[in-house]
Amino acid sequence: MTQVFQGRSFLAEKDFTRAELEYLIDFSAHLKDLKKRGVPHHYLEGKNIALLFEKTSTRTRAAFTTAAIDLGAHPEYLGANDIQLGKKESTEDTAKVLGRMFDGIEFRGFSQRMVEELAEFSGVPVWNGLTDEWHPTQMLADYLTVKENFGKLEGLTLVYCGDGRNNVANSLLVTGAILGVNVHIFSPKELFPAEEIVELAQGYAKESGSRILITDNADEAAKGADVFYTDVWVSMGEEAMFEERVKMLTPFQVNMDLIKKAENENLIFLHCLPAFHDTKTVYGKDVAEKYGVSEMEVTDEVFRSKYARHFDQAENRMHTIKAVMAATLGNLFIPRV
Ligand code: CP
Ligand code: NVA
Repeated sequence: MTQVFQGRSFLAEKDFTRAELEYLIDFSAHLKDLKKRGVPHHYLEGKNIALLFEKTSTRTRAAFTTAAIDLGAHPEYLGANDIQLGKKESTEDTAKVLGRMFDGIEFRGFSQRMVEELAEFSGVPVWNGLTDEWHPTQMLADYLTVKENFGKLEGLTLVYCGDGRNNVANSLLVTGAILGVNVHIFSPKELFPAEEIVELAQGYAKESGSRILITDNADEAAKGADVFYTDVWVSMGEEAMFEERVKMLTPFQVNMDLIKKAENENLIFLHCLPAFHDTKTVYGKDVAEKYGVSEMEVTDEVFRSKYARHFDQAENRMHTIKAVMAATLGNLFIPRV
């Protein structure tokens, strides 16, 4: 039998089948249990892992670092200002060098093409830690958190509110469609997901039975919600757009009025984080002073409510990233799923 994951990269959700994504989610739950019980799981003893970050990060960097160490591997952080990538050396040449020294490479940055080139030329597994288009490792943590709360994924309804065409929205839409989760995107028409993303999701939805809804109507969006999910209104690299986005997205904020529309006391709230739920950040304070908005994509009330699961979700980044690295790089025997 083939070891199905070994040597493979994770550049976008479509790289894995539904069964493979489900396997990784369940494997993550197993690794989480091992970690909680203090059972060692050094599946990557002696491996070296490069962590390339063009954009900043708390969770993804911390998750890759701690997951690599728990697996017995050595993580090495290579930030945008530390290496030659892009400025003095092409992606192809960088990939060829790193592939001779490292056993696996994580990349967070702007261009999806760059993470694809790293995979093409390094010869080792490459994991996408977020690009402008996709955030695939985030998805495993998100859907693991959903499964932990509901015991299943198929047939649930996830409502994503806000910027409907950012990396997290794209990834939630496509992953939900693959996994049989109904996905509602609640955003202004100007920020509806791109046509090709919706078409991709609809293709998967046909197979899985998931229902896709793209709407700017709050009642329609909230109907049947099991999960409300939101992300920042302004993604990394778009910082000049706060004024426009605050105006456009205020009606799409996750607040108690929106949550109540779902009439579901068992629903949960997720956020990939970081979140602007108060004015205790530089941007949060600035937006409050300039535009009079002190809570952006989610109110502090919802953020601290009984529905909130985002800190479990953040912890799950580590367990799920561990699963991806162990499966694609380890010598584990994982039969074809
Ligand atoms: N959710 C997420 O990717 O967080 P970071 O930007 O802190 O890595
Ligand atoms: N859409 C956000 C996600 C952060 C995890 C961004 O790209 O900044």
